[in-house]
Amino acid sequence: MRAGHNQYAAMTGIPALREAIANKNQALYGHRHDPDAEITVTAGATQALIATILALVRADDEVIVLKPAYDTYAPAVMLAGGRPVLVPLDHARGYAPDWQAVRDAITSRTRLIFINFPHNPIGRVLRKTDILALERIVDQTGVVLLSDEVYEHVVFDGRPHHSVMRSPLLASHSVVISSFGKTSTQLDGK
Ligand SMILES: Cc1ncc(COP(=O)(O)O)c(C=O)c1O
Repeated sequence: MRAGHNQYAAMTGIPALREAIANKNQALYGHRHDPDAEITVTAGATQALIATILALVRADDEVIVLKPAYDTYAPAVMLAGGRPVLVPLDHARGYAPDWQAVRDAITSRTRLIFINFPHNPIGRVLRKTDILALERIVDQTGVVLLSDEVYEHVVFDGRPHHSVMRSPLLASHSVVISSFGKTSTQLDGK
């Protein structure tokens, strides 16, 4: 208690933890977030998702969601009074995102594009070409990405995880969400 470990925890997460997260993202993805201004710790990714949507989405705003999607995305958008705009990930294309369809779905009301790679439930990871396509979309429209990267350490076949944090343009236009719930074995070193 004398060392200060008493009273309420800092609402945004204890400073040492935010610093550790900033260091981890910098080491893995080359982007340094300001631990005091740009990192916040939540009770799971689910809280981070809803907090981001409630902060950024207003009534009648549109949010692009690639379908199939983790099942809290669309209800969270609707809870905020927004409208999910669904863009399918097509089996016939090997579930590769159709970035032209995403671009075509953007209107003056679009507040966010939800992306989730490695993808639940498909398992697909982003490729460099996807990052380039996203950069073009962000460059042309200024739209904000909500990048759910909770499975960043669950990748197979030697493929890398292409975090949006690897791109300076995307990093500056993204809210990135990670989860300790999916990373514990990695942190144990197993
Ligand atoms: C894609 C995706 N995002 C977010 C979550 C929620 O993560 P958390 O358990 O940290 O709330 C899950 C949980 O399964 C998930 O699959």
